[in-house]
Amino acid sequence: MRVLVTAGPTREALDPVRYLSNRSSGKMGYALADAFARAGHQVLLVSGPSVLEVPEGVDFLPVETGLEMFEAVKRHLGRMDAALFAAAVADYRAAEISDRKIKKDGETLKLELVRNPDILGSARASFGFTGTLVGFAAETENLEHNAREKLRRKGCDLVIANDVSKPGIGFDSDRNEVLLVFPEHSEAMPEDEKHHLAPKIVREIERLAAERATH
Ligand code: CTP
Repeated sequence: MRVLVTAGPTREALDPVRYLSNRSSGKMGYALADAFARAGHQVLLVSGPSVLEVPEGVDFLPVETGLEMFEAVKRHLGRMDAALFAAAVADYRAAEISDRKIKKDGETLKLELVRNPDILGSARASFGFTGTLVGFAAETENLEHNAREKLRRKGCDLVIANDVSKPGIGFDSDRNEVLLVFPEHSEAMPEDEKHHLAPKIVREIERLAAERATH
């Protein structure tokens, strides 16, 4: 299969020295890219800024902002059989990036932010993607219900959900505990190293892709 994986945070510049971002490390996305490559698939990893080493045998496309990630996915998605959106894309970016360093003139500072495009949400609706589509959901409550809502709204075959209120798993951690939410059922994967979870997730996606091919 040809597989696209988005990973890591995005970084949204405010001025030449500052940016908005989030705590995503890219670990889950990189572990998935690695597991797909080890299973013999052709992988394109589109990643925001991350200190992680690019897994062997993976094509790497580094980006910085949500808009850059959007453009990269738009360009490459058409030839993919499966796509997994593990990136934590910043929901907002600065309405205007100051070309000079913002000075601390006042006691308060107002920033105007505008919405970034929803890359996963564009896959089916705007890019016409017909392959196996996998989204991620980071929730603090109603995990299954919210993930299923996301699955339906974004036209996914699978949403991999994790509870970000639990300490020691998910964001920036080597471990995760996920709930696989499919259209007709859900399946819990007990807490484990991201590197152990990834090959199991790969097998689920191989199964989904095979099912899709026979329909
Ligand atoms: N996603 C994306 N582009 C965005 C935002 C999110 O591709 N601009 C993808 C993420 O990679 C992830 C999924 O969409 O696969 C997360 O969906 P989202 O609706 O952003 O979920 P939350 O961040 O959990 O947001 P909310 O709390 O608003 O539901």
